[in-house]
Amino acid sequence: MVSIPSVGIIGSGKYVPDRILTNQELEQMVETNDEWIVTRTGIRERRLVAPEQATSDLGYEASKIALKAAGLTPEDIDLIIVATITPDMFFPSTACLIQEKLGAKRAAAFDLSAACSGFIYGLATASSMISSGLYKHVLVIGAESLSRITDYTDRNTCILFGDGAGAVVLGPVPEGRGFKSFVLGADGAGGELLKVGGGGSRMPSSTESVTGKHHFIHMAGNEVFKFAVRIMGGAAEEALEKAGYTKEDIDLLIPHQANIRIIQSALNRLDLPEEKAMINLDKYGNVSAGSIPIALAEAVEQGRVNEGDCLVLVGFGGGLTWGASVLIW
Ligand code: COA
Repeated sequence: MVSIPSVGIIGSGKYVPDRILTNQELEQMVETNDEWIVTRTGIRERRLVAPEQATSDLGYEASKIALKAAGLTPEDIDLIIVATITPDMFFPSTACLIQEKLGAKRAAAFDLSAACSGFIYGLATASSMISSGLYKHVLVIGAESLSRITDYTDRNTCILFGDGAGAVVLGPVPEGRGFKSFVLGADGAGGELLKVGGGGSRMPSSTESVTGKHHFIHMAGNEVFKFAVRIMGGAAEEALEKAGYTKEDIDLLIPHQANIRIIQSALNRLDLPEEKAMINLDKYGNVSAGSIPIALAEAVEQGRVNEGDCLVLVGFGGGLTWGASVLIW
């Protein structure tokens, strides 16, 4: 019998642009205030891409760090998956642009669209491809330049989003470690709740699509909030059950960084104290597909992840979509 290799994360890295946009600056742009933003979301500041940067630049920087941590060269990579809703352009894919920048000449490359759940969808895809024997080393990147699709006159959305990228290298790991389960889900009926409607084949770019602000994120915040509260704890519990673990086994929860109140509701449901969650949304806001890999890379940097630890990754987002995974480090 051919044994299925265990697959895990063998290197991680993050990159956020230098420019910080504070709540105080937002007070000058829309009718809001620091106190409202902090109490309703937990966010204090977020990063913005420089005018000359785009999503592939952010993903490239994070990837270099992840490759170094894995002790691999770009030529060792068999496949690059980029989870993003803010690609540099429609095509070529951001994954192809990063492949070229890295010089990962042997790698296949494609983008994956599952909004804020995209990184977990990417991990599940890469992990399956490695355990099937198709590939050995896959670079999975979550990268976003959300400031490019954010309407800075809309206080309902502009306070939430930021830019950045996280990257991981997946490869074979010793038995007993690595990914133990994945849960992926979607509910297309909720698609209207969170979307950028313009610029695609349904509403091609036009003067009307620009003046109608259809190239910006539109969100029914309250509805998304209710969905998120329901799905975060539920998806995490399902992933634990599938893996044969319980909530008592969790060493660190790495949730999507959308809103501190959503994270707290997941912690309540899982009976976990706040110290057991990696929370950095105060510094970066919601970076969509970038949030979970940035949080993961930062947890590793801070020494919060040790060999054998049980990590639960969980996210939700536009689509609607959700995803969760149990990972033994
Ligand atoms: N500053 C001050 N007031 C604001 C505001 C801001 N930035 N944004 C909204 N408000 C106001 C609203 O206009 C509303 O005023 P009204 O009662 O006079 O109509 C009031 O605050 C309450 O708005 P509401 O939308 O009910 O607030 P909320 O507690 O639901 O918080 C969000 C709003 C967006 C923070 C919250 O709904 C949320 O986080 N949703 C999920 C978003 C998300 O995760 N999106 C990404 C998914 S990946």
